[in-house]
Amino acid sequence: METLKDVLQHLIFPWLFMSISSRRIPYTIRTLISEGRWQTLFCLDGFCDALFGNFWAVVGPQVKSSAEVRVIPLLEGRVRNAKVSDHVVGKPVSGRILEIGAGTGMWADVFLRIDTTGQHAGTENANGPTTRRRVATRGISKIYGVEPHAQSVKALRQRTKELGMEDMYEAIPVGIEQLDDPRATGSATTIEPGSIDCIVSILCLCSIPDQEKNIKALYKLLKPGGRWYVYEHVKVKRGGILLGWYQRYINFFWAFFLGSCRLCHDTTTHLKEAGPWSSVDLAQPPDEPAYKMLPHILGVLTK
Ligand SMILES: C[S@@+](CC[C@H](N)C(=O)[O-])C[C@H]1O[C@@H](n2cnc3c(N)ncnc32)[C@H](O)[C@@H]1O
Repeated sequence: METLKDVLQHLIFPWLFMSISSRRIPYTIRTLISEGRWQTLFCLDGFCDALFGNFWAVVGPQVKSSAEVRVIPLLEGRVRNAKVSDHVVGKPVSGRILEIGAGTGMWADVFLRIDTTGQHAGTENANGPTTRRRVATRGISKIYGVEPHAQSVKALRQRTKELGMEDMYEAIPVGIEQLDDPRATGSATTIEPGSIDCIVSILCLCSIPDQEKNIKALYKLLKPGGRWYVYEHVKVKRGGILLGWYQRYINFFWAFFLGSCRLCHDTTTHLKEAGPWSSVDLAQPPDEPAYKMLPHILGVLTK
């Protein structure tokens, strides 16, 4: 049973996030000046993105540790109807994977840790790390991490190198809207339509431009039978019209403190209507209360 205090905490939560971000403003200004990035300093969008990067460096690891209880089972094929199961109920990620908005590579280690054999036993096995890694990555042939922000790409490359994933993980330094432009990617790698086995999007579709159009473009990259693993925060749908208005009001300020992230995207509809799916298993985790201001969707869509 939720108390009034719980309700208030959920309603205030986005303001706490913004206050953490606001405390990073002086650091962001100092860094941009010391690095001579004057253009970024004096361009509102550029500054907001830089601020968001510094905010996420602090908050991201905490968000990751609370989200892992859902994301790891999701990637292991242990989620159905947004509920985590001890057993494998779907297919784990495998093959050629496109990780959207990979950021600084915070989730890269998870691709090494997850059990992609489809035989999750409920508990961590007793094998050493090398054996575990070989088992874990058996089904994954390549991961492409799409990330437009230069600072994050640098960190992403560094992190995947430290994890010994150079052969397996390639950072593609563009936004998803430029994926089909080899001049923009500056890479020999092009992602052809119908060539990707799995798309993984973790808390990033909120940040991409023209969400509806770009989700449709991503859909085309999936092979027939390809799967899209989703963990995203979305527009409030439960909880009534007042909460929807309140979320839109917060979004007005959010846009400054949280870079290109937006609160009120109807991501569920955009995903479901991206193209014909053979199955859609996407819902809000049932343990999230109706008045949560950053409600999530969790699940897998199969082409
Ligand atoms: C909230 S962060 C999440 C990063 C990462 N998925 C994580 O959980 O740590 C959103 C990410 O989306 C990225 N992003 C913004 N615009 C994008 C675009 N057009 N295409 C791909 N990624 C984008 C941002 O740079 C940022 O790294």
